Amino acid sequence: MWLTAIPKVVIKTYLWSFILWLILTTIIPQTLTKYFNDEVISNTYKTRYFPYHSLISPSQLPIQNSTVYYVMGHPDDETMFFSPSLIEVLRPKHNNSVKLICLLPGDYVSPSMGSLRKEELLSAARIYGIDKDDVFVLNYRDGMNETWPLDSIVNDLASIIGTNHQQLHNPLTLITFDEGGVSGHPNHIATYEGTKKFFDTYYKSLSNDYRLYKLKTFNVFEKYTSTILTNIEYLVIQLPRLLARNIFQIGIDISFFSNPNEEESSIKFFGDMNTLGLSFGAMSFGHFSQMESFRYPWILFSRYFTYNNLIQVL
Ligand SMILES: *[C@@H]1O[C@H](CO)[C@@H](O)[C@H](O)[C@H]1NC(C)=O
Ligand SMILES: *[C@@H]1O[C@H](CO)[C@@H](O)[C@H](O)[C@H]1NC(C)=O
Ligand SMILES: *[C@@H]1O[C@H](CO)[C@@H](O)[C@H](O)[C@H]1NC(C)=O
Repeated sequence: MWLTAIPKVVIKTYLWSFILWLILTTIIPQTLTKYFNDEVISNTYKTRYFPYHSLISPSQLPIQNSTVYYVMGHPDDETMFFSPSLIEVLRPKHNNSVKLICLLPGDYVSPSMGSLRKEELLSAARIYGIDKDDVFVLNYRDGMNETWPLDSIVNDLASIIGTNHQQLHNPLTLITFDEGGVSGHPNHIATYEGTKKFFDTYYKSLSNDYRLYKLKTFNVFEKYTSTILTNIEYLVIQLPRLLARNIFQIGIDISFFSNPNEEESSIKFFGDMNTLGLSFGAMSFGHFSQMESFRYPWILFSRYFTYNNLIQVL
């Protein structure tokens, strides 16, 4: 068993980090809500949503009242890489309408696998509360050696999203991979380039109502740190804010920890046990064909399951 080849100290580090992460992102915020939130204390709710904490930075999500398109390559990318941000953007309090555009059906193995994975994507979307009419699966060819014509991606996106901002009723937000494509996968990189070209052609420099975000690719060391780096970032950025807001009732942002310019165009999403559980559910119930044995450790080690950094492309 390959697991026995991993030194004990490494396993222990990950395990303790996970426990710390659980305390930081889930137990502390939920306890603060229970004892310091007026609505919860009095059991009288102002909205139809429970006043849970969103663990994001900046603490007011800039993506609101918006039609949000996730443009991805394979039918499980929304969960494998984007789930912390996807789940946050979907929360009813942000009033977004979220849609998924998947450029290829995942038929690398066989055409029948393609139809199966399409169904799996719809099933995962249902778990997230995304209507099947809001899921678009296109037919680009899967594979490391495939090059996709960018103009064709631009045209496909144009026919789904539209090209005239005056005909859109809401602000528009596009979210996709970055130049690194998470793992350098050419299909992911082409997805980014096509989406960027579409955005540059029709929506760039209109106003800040039309935005493109790219998912920051972690380098190989960062990618498998699971919760370790997230804990450090969380302790520095998120926890002081949470305590300040709840216990001292002040809305300060601890600005000396981060470059304010960077803040404006970058959003950090810290998942918690609940979002991790939902991602795991979407993977294991929705994308079941992808749950081979190697996926389980992958989900535990991958940083993308508990943390996303979206950077606005200006
Ligand atoms: C939700 O967003 C739409 C589109 O921007 C807007 O018309 C509507 O007023 C918003 N509703 C709420 C409750 O914020
Ligand atoms: C979203 O729409 C509501 C209702 O129209 C408005 O009150 C709120 O300020 C909007 N939020 C943002 C971030 O624009
Ligand atoms: C992709 O291209 C490389 C080099 O051209 C080749 O060695 C490899 O077999 C190709 N892979 C597939 C799946 O076609």
